[in-house]
This record gives sequence, C-alpha cells and structure tokens, in this order.
Amino acid sequence: MEDIVDLKGVTALVTGAGQGVGRAIALRMAQHGAGCVVVNDYFEDRAEAVVAEIEAMGVRGIAAQGDVTKLDDLKRIVADVETAVGPIGVLVNNAGNMGPAGVVRSRPFWEQEPEEWDLSLGVNLYGVMNAVRAVLPGMIAAERGAIVTIVSDAGRVGEPRLEAYSGAKAGAAGFMRAIAKSVGRYNVRANCIALSATKTPTIQVDEDSDIGKKMLAPYIIRRFGEPDDGARMAVFLASDASAWITGQTYPVNGGYALAV
Ligand SMILES: NC(=O)c1ccc[n+]([C@@H]2O[C@H](COP(=O)([O-])OP(=O)(O)OC[C@H]3O[C@@H](n4cnc5c(N)ncnc54)[C@H](O)[C@@H]3O)[C@@H](O)[C@H]2O)c1
Repeated sequence: MEDIVDLKGVTALVTGAGQGVGRAIALRMAQHGAGCVVVNDYFEDRAEAVVAEIEAMGVRGIAAQGDVTKLDDLKRIVADVETAVGPIGVLVNNAGNMGPAGVVRSRPFWEQEPEEWDLSLGVNLYGVMNAVRAVLPGMIAAERGAIVTIVSDAGRVGEPRLEAYSGAKAGAAGFMRAIAKSVGRYNVRANCIALSATKTPTIQVDEDSDIGKKMLAPYIIRRFGEPDDGARMAVFLASDASAWITGQTYPVNGGYALAV
C-alpha cells in the first residue's frame, strides 16, 4: 500500500535530535523513506546513539555534532553532508528549550538580566535562523525542500515565567511565515509545529501527581504529549502529503489551546 508520507530517499537534517522529540522525529524520518538522516546535537554521544538506532533500521545516519546558535557550525555540517550524500531536502529545527542545559528555572522577568534571555533567544530564534540560512542555498539550487520548525504553544498563547522563551518561539514562527513567502517560488515549504507539554528526558512530570493533575486540567485529551505525537506531524509536513501547505503553524497539543 502507498505510504502517503514517503520521503522518497531525501536527506533529512534534524537539529537537537539526540533525545526527546528530535530523536523521535529522526527515527520516523528513517522509517518513512529518508535516504539519510543527519542527527545533529550539541552532545556528540547523544547524536551517535541515535545514529546507531537509525542504522539498525537499515538507513544511513550521520552524527553531526554542532551548536545551532553558531552559524559556522551549521555551515560546516551542511557542507559536510552535501559532500557525503548530496543536498539536504528536509530540515527540522527541533533544538530548543533553553539550549544544552534543558529547561532552566528562571526568576520573575522583572528581575532578569538580558544574558538570561539569550538562553531562549539563542537556540529557539537564532538557532532556527542559522539552520535555515545554511540549508536554503542547497534547497533553492535543487528547487525542492521542506522546513519544519518545532515551536511551542508558549509562543501562541504565552506562558507565565517563560516570557523570553514565548517571545523566541513566536519570533521563530513569524520568521518561518516570512521564509515561506520568500522561498515558495523555489518549491521550498516552511511550516511550524506548536507543541504543548511533552514527556521527554528534559520534561518529566508524573500525570498522577498533584502538580501533574493541575497541569493537565486545560488539556482536552487528558495526557501529556509523547515525542511521537510531534514526530508524526513532522513527517507529514516534511513529505509531499502536505504539498499544498506552507507558512502555517499546527498545534500538536492535546487541545491545550485551540487554533482558529
Ligand atoms: N518537551 C516539551 O514539553 C515541549 C513543549 C513545547 C515545545 N517544545 C519544543 O520541542 C523541541 C524539543 O523539545 P524536547 O523537550 O524534546 O528537548 P530536549 O531538551 O529533551 O532535547 C533537546 C536536544 O537538543 C539538544 N540541543 C539543545 N541546544 C542545542 C544547540 N544549541 N545545538 C544543538 N543541539 C542542541 C540537546 O542537547 C538535546 O539533546 C524544542 O524546540 C522545545 O522547545 C518542547
């Protein structure tokens, strides 16, 4: 039977794919016909472990250590991949939260210094811009590409105590809308997925605990997300199944906040 989300042998680069949602995305790309999956992470051992999982599925994987907040790292990764296997057809900007440190508990915004904002803005906004800057020349030359950025409902509806993060994610979504308009003529699409609380090594809350129950109250589907919830949407937006979709942000959020 036809797989409507078949990736037809493209090379897919997933940032921050050493664990959590990014790892799930990388595995789904491999399962759905990517010819090569490039696993970027700040931590090399994490990237290598996910590449081993991908290769066990019979798909080529490349571990690409690098910091997405550094444009030179992204340019190096893209050049190495293009030399090894050809152009990158899919980019998933997944690296996020507050960078390699995961989620950092912050003080009230009105007590913060700008250096604290950089943790969120660096990876969630500049990281996305850097990766898009690095892959676009190859996608434009090939006249084919799909870019997916993982944002957050924090960027759609705002989250108290996560002001800089909310702003960075909203900024990334705005950036992606503009990129969609700039590169549509080259057959390159750009979309976002807005996640709500998803269980990953960084975000671990017991659904049966008091705090877990309180957090779940606004969710129509009364559970936290699994990494694969986001990964399934990422494969859809990376594939030709979404050929007529660009410039959009799709919530994958258990109904936490509704899109109109
Ligand atoms: N988990 C959630 O509840 C949730 C909710 C909304 C949005 N998100 C977003 O989903 C994405 C994935 O979240 P997660 O919880 O799976 O993440 P995570 O923190 O569990 O894993 C992120 C991975 O990215 C890597 N990374 C971090 N900064 C990096 C950098 N500068 N360069 C390269 N790699 C880097 C980390 O080393 C880590 O392996 C993020 O963009 C996050 O903001 C997550």
